[in-house]
Amino acid sequence: MLGRLNHVALAVPDLAAAAAAYRGTLGARVTAPQALPEHGVTVVFVDVGNTRIELLEPLGEGSPIAAFLEKNPSGGMHHVCYEVDDIVAARDRLKASGARVLGDGNPKTGAHGKPVLFLHPKDFFGTLVELEQA
Ligand code: CO
Repeated sequence: MLGRLNHVALAVPDLAAAAAAYRGTLGARVTAPQALPEHGVTVVFVDVGNTRIELLEPLGEGSPIAAFLEKNPSGGMHHVCYEVDDIVAARDRLKASGARVLGDGNPKTGAHGKPVLFLHPKDFFGTLVELEQA
């Protein structure tokens, strides 16, 4: 079921500063910021050849990463995203095995315009897992 690593996401308190550090200090290619109001975040992607790093900054009230940044004020690893061929089939299989799908259980459109779901970190050893239909 599980395919390639699509990205690793890092929550950061200041997206402009983080993007500048990746672009300047680390010499990486960084995309323009993209606001995702449905997800409560603004994102940029860093291209590192074999995968991408997603930098996330809170957007609006009740952002799902606000509490994370309160606990980790300088930022930190927020989630990993794996690709699946069929997100609805993956969700149904996970739910049947007792894994918790966050939100209403229906895929939302992610940063790449493809359907995504998040799985409860307590079911996957303390790491929030995102699935994206490839
Ligand atoms: Co992500």
